[in-house]
Amino acid sequence: MSKQATLTIGDKDFPLNILVGTENEHAIDISTLRKESQYITFDDGYGNTGSCESDITFIDGDKGILRYRGFDISELAEKSNFLESCLLLFNGELPSSSEIDNFKTKVFSHSSLPSSVEEIIKTMSGNTHPMGVLSAALQALGGCFPHLSTNTRPADIESFEEAASLIVAAIPSIAAKTFRSSKSENTPSANNAFSYCENFLHMMFGNESAESIDPAVSNALDLIFLLHADHEQNCSTSTCRMIASGGANAFASLSGAVSALWGPLHGGANMAVIKMLNEIHSAGDDGSQFIQSAKEGKSRLMGFGHRVYRNYDPRAKILKSACDQALEALGVESPILDIARNLESSALQDEYFIARKLYPNVDFYSGIILQAMGFPTDMFTVLFALGRAPGWLSHWKEIATNGKRIHRPRQIYQGSTHRPYVALSDR
Ligand code: SDX
Repeated sequence: MSKQATLTIGDKDFPLNILVGTENEHAIDISTLRKESQYITFDDGYGNTGSCESDITFIDGDKGILRYRGFDISELAEKSNFLESCLLLFNGELPSSSEIDNFKTKVFSHSSLPSSVEEIIKTMSGNTHPMGVLSAALQALGGCFPHLSTNTRPADIESFEEAASLIVAAIPSIAAKTFRSSKSENTPSANNAFSYCENFLHMMFGNESAESIDPAVSNALDLIFLLHADHEQNCSTSTCRMIASGGANAFASLSGAVSALWGPLHGGANMAVIKMLNEIHSAGDDGSQFIQSAKEGKSRLMGFGHRVYRNYDPRAKILKSACDQALEALGVESPILDIARNLESSALQDEYFIARKLYPNVDFYSGIILQAMGFPTDMFTVLFALGRAPGWLSHWKEIATNGKRIHRPRQIYQGSTHRPYVALSDR
């Protein structure tokens, strides 16, 4: 197959190179198009546009495949854990036991937040959504470690490992502090005898006596974080890369990514799923009326559909079985779980959803498990951000080390053409 495409405009041909990825994805490289033809391409929402070449995560939306650095998500879910997956995403290889121990030591050395960051969280958490608090706290954290957020390279690249372990450690502490402050409670200090997830659950729900944590709960939480760790060029990761392309540090890039994730069409969907299921439950609907309203375009079946997956989101499959196990371990009967199952089975047989290839995505089941664990709904997207932080950090590192140009898309202007100024007296 020719490694070139030809674009013909009028009587002129423009040869364009074809890029082929390691998974045989093909792209037409239009880097020279504007210079050669004065034309740009247009792709609203970037559904057909590759913004970069990346080695981090591969998704095949038609086959429902997700791999971190070549390792399949179902194998990582079964055999790996969140902190190991962090190192895999950062460095591209499964870490040795000494690398894992070294990373854990670094993460636990940062488990308490600088007092100025704690102050900001306390001040904001009364009336600001936890995602707004997280975004601000990440910027404040960067400010407390100016040597890790210099906005100069290679300095910020050389200190990446330190910055990454600090951020991976800090987000659970920020989340717990935000939750506790909203209830005017103190946050129990981290207990380094606990695992990463046990510590988070302890800070969120425990007390100073540091009682033991149910491994079924901490393991389910670890799985949720691992499944969320990266997802190639989604809205928030692309935002992170956009900010990083301007030379900004990792704290600033992740602060922006948190804001992008917040939206209900993206990471905010896990909150929206629970809100939707609770509304269906309180309306006495078993889900069938809601399905009808979604088919009439009056509502969206939150937790369904995906820009890339035109098949079952592999993460949703794994979470669905984890949901059953976690609820059984927690001894929780969830009325909304029956509604979720009803929605899923109806949607999977309904022509409206089949024709549009709408399947459950990662957010459909995660909220049910998080609610059963006792997390308040407004914390769900913070937990998504906690899981996604290693992905954002890996993409920050990839774009920082590849020294690519600043991201600056073009546009097609559709506004007023040139017109003279009109004096106020003549308006
Ligand atoms: C995440 O990109 C990622 O990788 C994201 C993510 C990650 O890990 O980072 O996977 C995390 O964001 C998962 C998605 C979470 N969002 C939701 O669950 C919100 C509900 N889903 C939708 O809003 C929607 O499916 C999107 C936003 C996920 C995808 O939207 P698209 O690709 O832009 O699709 P679209 O809006 O153009 O819809 C195509 C058609 C439309 O119908 P028609 O106009 O053709 O008649 O499908 C319909 C839509 O109305 N449709 C839905 C629907 N999603 C799409 N109809 C009912 N319920 C839905 N959920």
